Amino acid sequence: MRMYDIIESKRDGHELTDEQIDFFVNGYVAGDIPDYQASALCMAIFYEGMTDREIVRLTLDMAHSGDVVDLSPIPGVKVDKHSTGGVGDKTTLVVAPVVASLGVRVAKMSGRGLGHTGGTLDKLESIPGLTTSIDEQRFFSIVGEIGCAVAGQTGNLVPADKKLYALRDVTATVDSLPLIASSVMSKKIAAGSDKILLDVKCGSGAFMKTVDDAVALAQEMVRIGEGVGRTTAALITNMDRPLGCCVGNALEVGEAARTLMGEGPQDLRDICVELAANMLELADKGDIVACRSMARAQIENGAGLEKLAQMVAAQGGDASYVRDPSRFGSDACMRDVRSGRDGWVRHMNTERVGIASVALGAGRARKEDSIDPLAGIILQKKAGDKVTKGEVLATLHASSEAQLDEGEQILRDAYEIGDEQPQPEPLVYARVT
Ligand code: URA
Repeated sequence: MRMYDIIESKRDGHELTDEQIDFFVNGYVAGDIPDYQASALCMAIFYEGMTDREIVRLTLDMAHSGDVVDLSPIPGVKVDKHSTGGVGDKTTLVVAPVVASLGVRVAKMSGRGLGHTGGTLDKLESIPGLTTSIDEQRFFSIVGEIGCAVAGQTGNLVPADKKLYALRDVTATVDSLPLIASSVMSKKIAAGSDKILLDVKCGSGAFMKTVDDAVALAQEMVRIGEGVGRTTAALITNMDRPLGCCVGNALEVGEAARTLMGEGPQDLRDICVELAANMLELADKGDIVACRSMARAQIENGAGLEKLAQMVAAQGGDASYVRDPSRFGSDACMRDVRSGRDGWVRHMNTERVGIASVALGAGRARKEDSIDPLAGIILQKKAGDKVTKGEVLATLHASSEAQLDEGEQILRDAYEIGDEQPQPEPLVYARVT
């Protein structure tokens, strides 16, 4: 079998055989297939798509490309959650501790930033001392004792996704339904949880721009999850504006901690309650109404914050930073971006907001780039807000004036200010089971 023929077959719109997909995944992980051929196949898949059978085969091959975790030694139901990626999406930092504080275990494998979207690992690592590179035994013991842990793809977990994820990030092949579905579900299958909640983001800051595309992705992933015996549900949620007000790693950890103190922005709090409630419902904790009240109560009584502090400490981090986020301090340079006119923020190009945060140093332009944990954006105005000329739209944080110049230029383009007040948009569009 030749990789050339597989690329040509997909390029010409044919369905790949199981043997061809196995050959690609095994050969790429083994290092026998070079990046240029793997990226050519990803681009062919981007244009030609895949049938359901091809997607399932690709997902299972990727899931079994390395170790598959057996969480059965940890007692009780284990629930996982995965977001398809957004701007300002720090929900895991709120939701995992809230759910764990109610006795449902969350063993979470997270990722790094991808394209314009942030990654939970990068956010958590802005806490001094915290590591997300924990071995399986330590991961198990933290989940068992504390109730939740967030780790990176350790050693040999889904190596096929680790390689393909980094390749897609730099070859414009992220926003493809078959490639996202196989990437997300291979990780969820290998990570071993019994129940899976998917948060499929939709809108200008998401990889899926329309509700129809997001529903199609959700249906595919739910089908794959159910097909391998994992109870799987998905929420289609709004990413047409950044979530909360902070974009950037330490800034987002601070905002998540303040949300657990009952002081966070309303949209972030509401979406976290909804995600936590859906995870609790999957874990048979009650009906959705009861689960929402339980989740809210854990925010109000401080149990969620306490659980986050315990998890941070167990992963080696200084928990005083989540109890008092002002300890993070500020980056070397700051700048206010002001409105040039009176009006309403009618729309935000949320992908541009994410790109601005990367330009400020909060994300990576290239795989090997390091991250500035304090860089990012505090949005003072979002879509739906009224503004007057000269009012601050956002405050930028970076380590140099040059980064501020670039970030400001990109962010200005992201705001569309007009005369009419826009219609409010829902936070959750649909639930797919
Ligand atoms: N999240 C993932 O884990 N993979 C993707 O391809 C996109 C978002």
